[in-house]
Amino acid sequence: METRHFLSLTDFSPEELTHVVSRAAELKRWHHEGRDWRPLAGKTLAMVFELNSTRTRVAFEVGMHQLGGHAICLTPKETQISRSEPIEDTARVLAEMVDIVMLRTLRHEDVTAFAEASAVPVINGMSARFHPCQLLADVQTFEEVRGPIAGRKVAFVGDGYNMCHSYINASRQFGFELRIATPETHRPDSALLAGVNSAEWTDCPRAAVENADLVVTDVWSSMGHEAESGERRRAFEGFQVTPALLDLANDDAVFMHCLPAHRGEEVSADLLDDPRSVVFTEAGNRLHSQKALLEFLVG
Ligand code: CP
Repeated sequence: METRHFLSLTDFSPEELTHVVSRAAELKRWHHEGRDWRPLAGKTLAMVFELNSTRTRVAFEVGMHQLGGHAICLTPKETQISRSEPIEDTARVLAEMVDIVMLRTLRHEDVTAFAEASAVPVINGMSARFHPCQLLADVQTFEEVRGPIAGRKVAFVGDGYNMCHSYINASRQFGFELRIATPETHRPDSALLAGVNSAEWTDCPRAAVENADLVVTDVWSSMGHEAESGERRRAFEGFQVTPALLDLANDDAVFMHCLPAHRGEEVSADLLDDPRSVVFTEAGNRLHSQKALLEFLVG
């Protein structure tokens, strides 16, 4: 049987994604009920982090533990990856010893090269192009607080980067309408956007947010863009998400941010604590959605 990977949302069918999201909600319920569920006993996840992480690392490590398995964390600095061992050789070696691999690298090409060489499932734990794991948690969170996301209106305001790209894929896979507002200079990949009828771009945050059910943003300087942060602060002027901007959305709209946030930049200092913000539930749901993903790929 062909090895399944999760490098972007388009690697799964809409039905498979819906299954993973609803299973995440069930696993969350079981966890709160104290139910013991260990389908991954004896299984090992290797996590390769080229970039920093708090949520992704903790969600996968705790998730494997709760499912009865084991997780090991590898950073290029302490492995042979930083001493030029080819990524394909690393993939083949890890597949001899572990049951699944999660990889966070800047270059999306490294994730795809790793997966092509791997005999065990590979999960993209975030690359410059996509952050599909975050979208599982975001959809789970929206559905937990507001019901089905299909047919709803979502506004993404900020940088047309990996989170924006994942929202474009999600709008097609989960069937919601997406309005993206970015500066002209930081638009999402035009080829990706062109293939998705349910998503459209504007340079006006107010137009994107009007009547939205969900408003999302991400940092203006993601990992790898830190050196451009001054220039980016100028380019993104007028794109800060504030309670006043959120007032243009529907009355029961919610606000999400994958975190970490730069309070006072892409979000006003007060927005994460606004009653419409569900960012900490969203962060917590990384655990349950990653467990559902691990169970789907390994269990
Ligand atoms: N949202 C997210 O992926 O967080 P980390 O970078 O802390 O993993």
